[in-house]
Amino acid sequence: MWGGLAVLILVLFTGCSSPGRGTDNVAAGTVKVEESTLSAGSSNKDVQSTQNTSVQDTKPEEIPPEDDSQEAVVPQKAPKCEGISRGVNLGNALEAPQEGAWGVVLKESYFEKIKDAGFDFVRIPVRWSGHASLEAPYEIDANFLKRVDWAVEQALSRGLVAILDMHGYDEFMQDPKGEEKRFIGLWKQLSKHYAGYPDKLYFELLNEPTNNVPGDVWNNCISGALKIIRTTNPDRYIVVGPVSWNGIQQLYSLSLPEKDKKILVTYHYYSPMEFTHQGAEWVQGSDSWMGTAWTGTAAEKAAVRSDFDLAVEWARSNNRPLLMGEFGAYSTAKMVYRTRWTGFAAREAEKRGIAWSYWEFCAGFGVYDSGAGEYRQELIDALIPPGK
Ligand code: BGC
Repeated sequence: MWGGLAVLILVLFTGCSSPGRGTDNVAAGTVKVEESTLSAGSSNKDVQSTQNTSVQDTKPEEIPPEDDSQEAVVPQKAPKCEGISRGVNLGNALEAPQEGAWGVVLKESYFEKIKDAGFDFVRIPVRWSGHASLEAPYEIDANFLKRVDWAVEQALSRGLVAILDMHGYDEFMQDPKGEEKRFIGLWKQLSKHYAGYPDKLYFELLNEPTNNVPGDVWNNCISGALKIIRTTNPDRYIVVGPVSWNGIQQLYSLSLPEKDKKILVTYHYYSPMEFTHQGAEWVQGSDSWMGTAWTGTAAEKAAVRSDFDLAVEWARSNNRPLLMGEFGAYSTAKMVYRTRWTGFAAREAEKRGIAWSYWEFCAGFGVYDSGAGEYRQELIDALIPPGK
């Protein structure tokens, strides 16, 4: 149903920039997202405060039951993803132009809650590009680096793996060729700085290279960054995803060094966009998606399964472990459907040996309600079923 659908995602806000998502010419189930310059952060912040009042029904709605038929065949598994299984993104904090600007300031207690809930890793999106000089050697601001170190140490000291993810690099998305040197320069500093850190720190080269990033330019950047990083961090896991917003359909375009076995391949999953991004302020036209349900019909489930199977097929033939590094449904969708979709995506990933990290902890998609100081029970149960 996505094929041929052309939705141009435009920017609704001015000022700082942040990713948004869109779809166009997308094969079934794969999310193609359009990077745009808008203040998704401020939008997420606004949403955070309206989270519990999202959809007001005028009459009670009947909730159709979920299809519970089992898959006819046992799905194939991706090569084992060592060290991580269930994680959460600490989104809207360190990838905001300034921490707090998008309503999230990281706290020690968040790491405790994450550990206690049974997650074994966090993905920490960081806007390095917003805190580094524009001229070579692209020096990263020392205070910012200290703050990120603090976050990494909060995770590591609790036995959580920390994926340090270069996020919100808008300049790169606009001019990938022109930013190549700066991208490598940032990784040069980071790899040196974190060289002595435990193996439980992973690096993620870049969040969601958009469709504006040609596959060959991206592959060139990957190879350049790996060369630099491997001189000081020979054994550290490095997470890499394909262009087209880390879309499953572009996995085939990734070119990775055969001999480097410490690479995890990531994809992001938000399909169907009409459901997961209904009413998302940073996706133009998404207001008309409001009210979209995901009840978990046989067809809806089959679409998710076939997307994941495609990823697994690629992973098996390329002998790479898989991480679904982002997936989630915005708070504007009905909670009952959010939990169904989220739980289903998580279980189907697990069946296929795919590690996952939910987008995100305590903002607009939040599994945790920072105002109330507690998890949203239905969502956390969908992610980590009690007793499992
Ligand atoms: C972006 C966020 C966005 C989320 C879902 C992330 O990769 O950085 O701004 O809210 O995807 O669209």
